[in-house]
Amino acid sequence: MVGQPVAHSRSPFIHALFAELTCQQLLYGRLAPAVEAFEMEVNRFRQEGGQGLNVTLPFKERAFHMADRASDRARVAGAANTLLFDKTGIYADNTDGVGLVRDLTQNLGLPLEGSRILLIGAGGAARGVLMPLLEQKPQRVLLANRTVTRAQALCHDVLTRMKEVTGKTTQCEVRELEGVGREPFDIVINATSSSLGNELPQVPPAAFGAALLVYDMMYGKEGETSFLAMARAHGALRCADGLGMLVEQAAESFYVWRGVFPPTGLVLQRLRMEMK
Ligand SMILES: NC(=O)c1ccc[n+]([C@@H]2O[C@H](COP(=O)([O-])OP(=O)(O)OC[C@H]3O[C@@H](n4cnc5c(N)ncnc54)[C@H](OP(=O)(O)O)[C@@H]3O)[C@@H](O)[C@H]2O)c1
Repeated sequence: MVGQPVAHSRSPFIHALFAELTCQQLLYGRLAPAVEAFEMEVNRFRQEGGQGLNVTLPFKERAFHMADRASDRARVAGAANTLLFDKTGIYADNTDGVGLVRDLTQNLGLPLEGSRILLIGAGGAARGVLMPLLEQKPQRVLLANRTVTRAQALCHDVLTRMKEVTGKTTQCEVRELEGVGREPFDIVINATSSSLGNELPQVPPAAFGAALLVYDMMYGKEGETSFLAMARAHGALRCADGLGMLVEQAAESFYVWRGVFPPTGLVLQRLRMEMK
C-alpha cells in the first residue's frame, strides 16, 4: 500500500487474512514516500521484486499515469488504486467503484437499478465510483459538491471518457451542495473527506428522511462517523459506513494480483471486531 499517510491503513490486515483464507503466499506492507518521490518509490519497489501495489491519497492519478495498460474503469476515472507489475509492464485498475457497488448490492442488499442516488463530493473517491454506479442503471444520479465547478468537471470527464472507452452514453446531474432541495433520494452517499476533520457537509436535512440508506465511504474506530450521526439525527432509518467498501475493493485488487477471489464476509466481520 502506497500513500501519504498510510500508517492508519487497514489494508495490510485485510490482505493478510485474504492470503490466509485462500492459501496464498503474500507479503503486504506500507510505503509512505515523500510526495515528490512517488514514481521513484514505485519503480524501486518494482525493481526489488514487488508484484503489485494498492495506491491511496494523494497518488491515485499519478499511479494511473505510470501504467502501460489500464482497465476501462481506471481509464474512465483517470485514477488507479491498484497496480499490477508483470512482464508486459504496469497494469492499472480502479476497484473502488466495484467495491462500493458490491457492498451496496450484495452486503447491504440494496438494488441500484431504478434507484435515485445522491452522491456528495467530487474528489478522487467520487471519480472512481461514478461510472460503476451509473452502470447499475439507476433512475437518477445527482452529483453534489461544495465547489460546484469541481463536480461539473468530474461529471464531464467521466461521461466523456465513458463514451470513448465503453461506447455507452448516460446522464448525471450536477448541483452545488447547498442547492439540493427537498427531493427524495433512495441512497445518499457521502464521498467527501469532511468526516476526516469531523466537519459536516451542508446537506439539506430533507435528503435523509426518505432515504433507504445513508452511506458514508469513511469509516472509523470511534463508532459512527459524524456524517452518519447527522443523518440519523435527521431521520435516516438505515446507515452504513465504508468498511464494507474497503473490504470489497481490496478483494477485487487481490483478484487482479492473484486470480483468486477471497471470501469477504468473514474478513469484514473480523475487521469490525479488530477495530472495536
Ligand atoms: N471505504 C473505502 O474503501 C474508501 C475508498 C476511497 C475513499 N474513501 C473515503 O472517501 C472519502 C473521500 O476520499 P477522496 O479520495 O475523494 O478525498 P478528496 O479527494 O480529498 O475529497 C475531497 C472532497 O471532499 C469535499 N469536502 C471536504 N471537506 C468538506 C466539507 N467540510 N464540506 C463539504 N465538502 C467537503 C471536497 O469538496 P470541495 O471540492 O468543495 O473542496 C471534495 O469534494 C475519504 O473519507 C476516504 O477515506 C473510502
